[in-house]
Amino acid sequence: MILRREQAPDRPEILALIEAAFPEPVEARLLRELFASREYLPELSIVAESADGEIMGYVISTRAWIGDSPAVGLGPIGVLPQWQRRGVGAALMHASIDAATEQGEPAIVLLGSTDFYPRFGFVPADSVGITSPDPSWGSHFMALPLPAFHTGIRGHFRYAEPFSKL
Ligand SMILES: CC(C)(COP(=O)(O)OP(=O)(O)OC[C@H]1O[C@@H](n2cnc3c(N)ncnc32)[C@H](O)[C@@H]1OP(=O)(O)O)[C@@H](O)C(=O)NCCC(=O)NCCS
Repeated sequence: MILRREQAPDRPEILALIEAAFPEPVEARLLRELFASREYLPELSIVAESADGEIMGYVISTRAWIGDSPAVGLGPIGVLPQWQRRGVGAALMHASIDAATEQGEPAIVLLGSTDFYPRFGFVPADSVGITSPDPSWGSHFMALPLPAFHTGIRGHFRYAEPFSKL
């Protein structure tokens, strides 16, 4: 498996992958808008490619805010159904965490399954002082503090603008 940054010519294949991974078209629509948004961060848009050049999985993190501090929001992440449960999603998560750490980001925040993300160190966001945009998300709203995190970074979390249209 090769992990690399997404490039613009990959986008039709990535959008088709996200459509195949999710039951509803909402994630692909969101992703199309994230590509076009000013919160897009090229170094945190990552594909997992097979040896013969097929894109098996994809993850994006975009600029977000915790109070007045920049952070990143992760998602969508998706793996082609025929490649799921073979370690691709975990590899994409590790690549995202490494890249965000390298960029000096203080935290990765996401909304997702409590069965999948805690294995990478994600904890309920409110336990590290990050307030959810929607209290009904409960423990599914999670954060991973990175080495640049400090206790001054706290408050209300705000995703990239396209998330507000969901
Ligand atoms: C979620 C997803 C990205 C995980 O990628 P993956 O390549 O299948 O996962 P991996 O093989 O790296 O990880 C496997 C582990 O995660 C668990 N896992 C995989 N998908 C899961 C899911 N949707 N919910 C909970 N746990 C999941 C597996 O049980 C496995 O655990 P184990 O190692 O203890 O057996 C992928 O299954 C996917 O695209 N799902 C559809 C889209 C989606 O739900 N995206 C995420 C929204 S939160």
